[in-house]
Amino acid sequence: MFVCLCNGITEKQIANVVREEGIGNMRELRLSMGVGSQCGKCVQAAQEVIDATIVDE
Ligand code: FES
Repeated sequence: MFVCLCNGITEKQIANVVREEGIGNMRELRLSMGVGSQCGKCVQAAQEVIDATIVDE
């Protein structure tokens, strides 16, 4: 499912960078993938994916 429509980024892609690159917050995710850098509507959902992925480990 797409989390960030502006950049075409899915939940799975976010979970992967959290696991593989150690991305731990929105600032790092924005710098890495551009998530949240345009309309900003995805920020809360993206944060939830980060949190759920970290808790999952
Ligand atoms: Fe992510 Fe617009 S949906 S910046």
